Amino acid sequence: GTPGPLAGKKAVVTSGPTHEAIDPVRYIANHSSGKQGHAIAAALAALGAEVTLVSGPVHIPDPTGVKVVRVRSASEMLDAVKAALPADMAVCAAAVADWTVANRATEKRKKKAGAPPPVIELAPNPDILAAVSKGEGCSRPRLVVGFAAETETLLDNARDKLARKGCDWIVANDVSEGTGTFGGDSNVVHLVDAKGVEDWPRLGKDEVAARLALRIAAVLGEGK
Ligand code: C5P
Repeated sequence: GTPGPLAGKKAVVTSGPTHEAIDPVRYIANHSSGKQGHAIAAALAALGAEVTLVSGPVHIPDPTGVKVVRVRSASEMLDAVKAALPADMAVCAAAVADWTVANRATEKRKKKAGAPPPVIELAPNPDILAAVSKGEGCSRPRLVVGFAAETETLLDNARDKLARKGCDWIVANDVSEGTGTFGGDSNVVHLVDAKGVEDWPRLGKDEVAARLALRIAAVLGEGK
């Protein structure tokens, strides 16, 4: 493998949106570009980690030096993450849909004159970060990192998320309109753990990834 402080360590990273099928041609999705998750996978690999990137549908190139597993739905993403475990670290950067379509049609829903529009029923998706953090049906990595994308009371929500999900760190970022975070190239994040909050300056998504990878290496790197 690649030399570096994370040589010999395994990482699983989730990235991108998920697509929840309504019927064979339609789906529910979100605006996640996958840029931040892909950058984290690349940064961990650059420090020597053996990285499996589990990615929802994105329009950006695969990072070099990582194994990419492509999935569509949250349920496929959970299966792929479990298959990639055990690992030393997991970083869940994917924007997983909160709900899947409970009444997915196996044939394309037809528009019929005079008929009422179809009703889409939603059901909760599995929470991948919580499952990994709690070692539900898998072994828990030593370090589990989640993201919190919020538009208000960012830090309160991040602390709450840390406790509820059971992960070690939350990277909290403000995705309010006008911040340009979704699909943009930079990010203002706060690293939240049980002890406190560290505010990072506005950084490129690649720089956020590099800094996060170094922080991870400080905890897990060589013999730690
Ligand atoms: O609960 P919320 O979606 O705000 O939490 C965001 C964090 O949880 C992110 O790290 C995201 O990747 C993860 N998540 C997940 N599975 C879900 C929902 C969120 O892994 N179903």
